[in-house]
Amino acid sequence: MSNALHNDLARLVGRIERAGREQVAADPYRQQFHLMPPVGWLNDPNGLCRCGEWYHVFYQYAPFDPLGGVKHWGHYRSRDLLHWEQLPPMLYPDQPWDLHGVYSGSALVEDDTLYLYYTGNVKHEGDFDYITAGRGHNTALAVSRDGVRPDSKELLMDNAAYPPGLTCHVRDPKVWAQDGGYLMVQGARTLDDRGELLLFRSDDKRHWRHINTLTTPEPFGYMWECPDLFELAGQWFLLCSPQGVPRRGDRFQNVYACGYFPLYGDPCGAYTLGTFTELDQGFDLYAPQTFLDGDRRLMLGWMGMPDAGYTDPTVLYGWQHCLTVPRVVRRLGERLLSWPVPELDALHLAPVAPAQAYCFDLLAQTAMQGSLTIRGCATIAWQPGSLTLTLGTGGAGRTVRRAPVDTVRSLRVLADASSLEIFLNEGEQVLTTRYYPDPDARGVQMTGCEATIWSMGRLAVERYSRQEGMI
Ligand code: FRU
Repeated sequence: MSNALHNDLARLVGRIERAGREQVAADPYRQQFHLMPPVGWLNDPNGLCRCGEWYHVFYQYAPFDPLGGVKHWGHYRSRDLLHWEQLPPMLYPDQPWDLHGVYSGSALVEDDTLYLYYTGNVKHEGDFDYITAGRGHNTALAVSRDGVRPDSKELLMDNAAYPPGLTCHVRDPKVWAQDGGYLMVQGARTLDDRGELLLFRSDDKRHWRHINTLTTPEPFGYMWECPDLFELAGQWFLLCSPQGVPRRGDRFQNVYACGYFPLYGDPCGAYTLGTFTELDQGFDLYAPQTFLDGDRRLMLGWMGMPDAGYTDPTVLYGWQHCLTVPRVVRRLGERLLSWPVPELDALHLAPVAPAQAYCFDLLAQTAMQGSLTIRGCATIAWQPGSLTLTLGTGGAGRTVRRAPVDTVRSLRVLADASSLEIFLNEGEQVLTTRYYPDPDARGVQMTGCEATIWSMGRLAVERYSRQEGMI
């Protein structure tokens, strides 16, 4: 499918990506083994899936400005999570119902075809608050048989199709096949400012019926973004990014929260939600999405935080934000554990001396108390009862985060040029953050741990060879 706006946008995005290439490549904070926007701004991962031999990673992409803009669906694909192909965006804001942003959504794979469900964002002109009025949040479907470009885009639901009592904020459809039909969850904000999830069912992937609303007995924030709902080893989990949850001591330290509820009972019928657990204790994890890869469930998140106000220096080089590494999610009772996919071990180059460490994978057995200082910029310190992550001036506004943890027994730190992903006790807790050390700084100072440090290589990222011809 194409129209004049689509064709112009495709040409312009290609042009801006080519024009920005050198400037972006000159940035010492460009990552080695994380997916980043070629230029411009990235937020949520979208449409994560495996279709035949390909993994697809789409993401919220505003190519024209590193500070954000109208969203497209940027696109990478890979056969092994190590060699990636950068494709042209799959979805452009080119229809009356998605003109002001092709917002977040998900992929359903059937018969080697991608069914991409997303929110078309429309902001009407006028004196509106864009919460209770003035905004269209449209549920749309794009179908792609070749996994490179869409064959069709269609509007499935507009605000009038959603249940009563809601603001205009209904978005981020996550769709999956279930019991001979299809289910979809969407995040919503009610007129009395409560976050909740809407569950829809369909028999044909196109006509959707609201069948349940999932929420807590007491209000928990005003909006739940980017929901995901899945069963893992016999337990349902409802993952979402709630906005408006006030800080309570060491809980909810970021502007917005990100975590999960165990769900007991039947999501389509009588259910209760258990206690909300945060997925991450660091500064930068939001809007994670999971997908099934054979019998494992993988997750990627946005390594960023909306409205946090950090001044990431990468904007000087024309880009901002990246995704986390792909992680395997496992169930431990009512908790979710996450751990980097084993594929990443193939990027281990050679063991490196602590004083030389730069981009690395550090695995450590820890004493009751200890600390790690990384590239003179970030200090991780633990003792019985807690672990703290402290960033100095290289935090670009990020200061201190505390993770309540009884005992730190082991630590894994994946350090890229400008990020840290810190896994405690085999993934029981995670702290994810961007950081901006002096580009020349190297080294890890350690007390209270025995560590092996591998220096890390790069993902191979190639531009889609037919890209130039396409636009
Ligand atoms: C979360 C979010 C989503 C929305 C998208 C727009 O970061 O606000 O709710 O679909 O970003 O880019």
